[in-house]
Amino acid sequence: MDNRTRLVNFFENFYPGKTDFSKMREDFINETPKDIRPLFYNDVTQITRNYLLLDHLMTLPLKKGQKISRSNRAVIFCALYDIIFRAQPPHVVNEYINLVKHKKDKGFVNWLLRTVLQTTGTDPESLPLPSSKIKEISMKYSFPVDFTVKLSTEFNKKKAEDIFKVLSREVPSVYMPNKSAPELSTLNCPEILPDIYTICDMNAALQAQREGKILIFEKTSMFPVYLLDAQEGEEILDLAASPGNKSFMIYNQTKGKVKLTLNDPDTQRYDFMVENVKKWGMDMETVSYDGRNFPLQKKYDAVFVDAPCSNTGVISKKPDIKFKLKNTKMNKLKDLQAGLVKRGLQLLKPGGRLVYSICSFLKEEIAPLVEEIEASTEFRSVISPVHFRLEKFSEDKYFRIIPSEDYPVGFSMALFKSK
Ligand SMILES: C[S@@+](CC[C@H](N)C(=O)[O-])C[C@H]1O[C@@H](n2cnc3c(N)ncnc32)[C@H](O)[C@@H]1O
Repeated sequence: MDNRTRLVNFFENFYPGKTDFSKMREDFINETPKDIRPLFYNDVTQITRNYLLLDHLMTLPLKKGQKISRSNRAVIFCALYDIIFRAQPPHVVNEYINLVKHKKDKGFVNWLLRTVLQTTGTDPESLPLPSSKIKEISMKYSFPVDFTVKLSTEFNKKKAEDIFKVLSREVPSVYMPNKSAPELSTLNCPEILPDIYTICDMNAALQAQREGKILIFEKTSMFPVYLLDAQEGEEILDLAASPGNKSFMIYNQTKGKVKLTLNDPDTQRYDFMVENVKKWGMDMETVSYDGRNFPLQKKYDAVFVDAPCSNTGVISKKPDIKFKLKNTKMNKLKDLQAGLVKRGLQLLKPGGRLVYSICSFLKEEIAPLVEEIEASTEFRSVISPVHFRLEKFSEDKYFRIIPSEDYPVGFSMALFKSK
């Protein structure tokens, strides 16, 4: 099967907002020959990033109420993407026409593709977009209008556009070697932060990760770990831990001289985390409770709550999150986040501390939570003194990394200590 057919198959089976995109992308990649995996990954991610725009373009020549079948849409999506975003010559339309399932539809798809391309041209920078600024940036970057309004209201339209631009690009990953692996990684890539390296050979890095020698992540993920600032000899509970990445970083940071308990209630995610801990060869305890009812028998020096969230900070890695925002039950999510923090605070030894972190940069997932905790407990959110790398992200009573050129992955964090 060639790459075009594989892409069309993918989008025929992809339901934005419903399908688990990351899992489907991984499943398809596993069935793709190794040499073209990076190309397939890039194409499938880019088409998803531009989904609303491509959808808008393909409907331009249609009459009101005229519909396109699912399988024809998949062909049109992939063809428009190839010609507009990958600068393939317009005659590749012919190859896509061959992928149209029903002979009777070939003429229609051919007409539609050629009419769209004549109307829009093939320069991604000068496509016809709606004239209102909100709708224009929403369409240009394929973000839902509601979300565009939300960001433009909190920041302004220009800043919202800057954020969308960053969230529409691939984020370079970094890696941390596993200090407890008997044989350390031999990747020898440049170090960009203490113990954190750029990836100079992705295939070698992926292999080293499979063997438990390194952990691949986006550098922003390290910031909540800086905020926790684990000390040797401490007992630490990671209350929402799977797959265990931040525990890996905490363990490394303290050279393994920390007693870590990793909790996750989701059976599949718990099993995956147990496998990781085994693979890393790290001395960690793993348990499985709903964090909101975690048993109170034992108390900890620190609790780390890397809570479930809307994931807006990682849209560049998982572009389908854009289509899930509408259905995210924000109030339910916020209750879960607050419930985890409240239980976490009850699990602290006197003088202990708790770090709340989420891979979202939405104010509504951090500001009200800090207010609620301060109003209902003796704990206060502390923004100073903290690790020097975090200072520039402090805002009022918490830290927020709003996606930017230097820090493309968004995060929000707070450190709670008793008065
Ligand atoms: C953002 S992920 C954690 C990522 C992890 N800290 C890491 O860096 O690898 C959030 C985790 O919270 C878990 N979770 C969901 N509901 C939970 C609950 N009620 N109690 C504890 N954990 C929960 C999810 O299964 C998920 O693994």
